[in-house]
Amino acid sequence: SERKNSSKNIVLIGFMGSGKSSVAKELHNQSSKNVIELDDEIVKLKKMSISDIFARYGEACFRETETSVLSLLHTQKNIVLSCGGGTILKKENVLLMRQIGRIFYLTASPEIILDRVRENNSRPILNGNMNLEYIQDLLKSRQKAYLSAADVIISTDNKTVPEICREILQNI
Ligand code: S3P
Repeated sequence: SERKNSSKNIVLIGFMGSGKSSVAKELHNQSSKNVIELDDEIVKLKKMSISDIFARYGEACFRETETSVLSLLHTQKNIVLSCGGGTILKKENVLLMRQIGRIFYLTASPEIILDRVRENNSRPILNGNMNLEYIQDLLKSRQKAYLSAADVIISTDNKTVPEICREILQNI
């Protein structure tokens, strides 16, 4: 029911460019839930961009920060948590995400992903790797982790953001 759903948390996972942030914003409009962008929390904590964290301290440091920020969120209510594309890579993170809320995996075809990430150079993982083959391979290597973390799988291909949100809110 609407009342029961009002305090429930939504956790969004999926590859870079799967639409997590756009969907989170629209979920806020449709449900009044507060949005927490995991990447933004990391940037605030480190006072540095994601690219700078990767460049100066490396991916391992970024991944550790991801886990420490996640572990601070379990008391939050009525939130949409938009995770990074690689947050599911650590089992520990997936357990923390499960404590936070229902996990929705947003999927998109590699072609659509490439289209969405193309003009944005703020993703160190894709630096120098902005091509379909790389995205297909990385998606393939992460697919098992996404699927085993997911409570609900939502395809975003050929759907509008409001449609995707309605689907999520119906499955909450
Ligand atoms: C990453 C995805 C990014 C960000 C970081 C690493 C990844 O988040 O956390 O650049 O490993 O897939 P988005 O999925 O929001 O781009």
